[in-house]
Amino acid sequence: MLKTAVLISGRGSNLQALIDAARQPDYPAEILCVISNVPDAQGLEHARKANIPAVIINHRDFKTRQNFEEALDAKLDEYGVQLVCMAGFMRLLTPWFVTRWRDRLINIHPSRLPEFPGLNTHKRVLEAGAKSSGCTVHFVRAEMDHGPIILQAEVPVLAGDTEETLATRVLEAEHRIYPEAVRMIAEGRVNIMDERVFITDAVALAKSKAAP
Ligand code: GRF
Repeated sequence: MLKTAVLISGRGSNLQALIDAARQPDYPAEILCVISNVPDAQGLEHARKANIPAVIINHRDFKTRQNFEEALDAKLDEYGVQLVCMAGFMRLLTPWFVTRWRDRLINIHPSRLPEFPGLNTHKRVLEAGAKSSGCTVHFVRAEMDHGPIILQAEVPVLAGDTEETLATRVLEAEHRIYPEAVRMIAEGRVNIMDERVFITDAVALAKSKAAP
């Protein structure tokens, strides 16, 4: 079982998707704790309902960004976390933290990166007149919304879409690919070479394990 933690700042619908996946008997990852930097984040309730420790580490309680991250890092170590999943976590992380958790820290972004990194994604997708959008699960690097891409989904942009309707359509795809990406990592099928991700096919992996 891969030991994961989920970092949130808000609603937590991706967290809920990860909780639902982890409940499946054959799912190879478990969520040991949920950490929010926002004390009243709605997502904390999802954790509590699922009997997962809901930890608040309020960034406002710390003098510097790194002090906050040291507390975060200590908490992750305390739980023996192997993979950190950012799910609507709205703090920029310093190179110190990102380096410390390199290749063990992933994020979901509501566009097909490298297109439309940053905030207000759906608004910018609509303004650009893009005909499709999507979402990306990627390893985190110091530069925001950059890093080796693990999985992506594409969704159409439809005539008459608003930020809300597009966000809803993208979110459905997010809820599908985030648990899938965590599963692939837990199964040891995700390899990074030259900052690109290569995925081993599940069947091929099983065969190579069975080989003498
Ligand atoms: C998602 O759209 C995610 O891609 C982005 O922030 C949003 C979080 O939504 N990083 P939720 O809190 O998981 O509902």
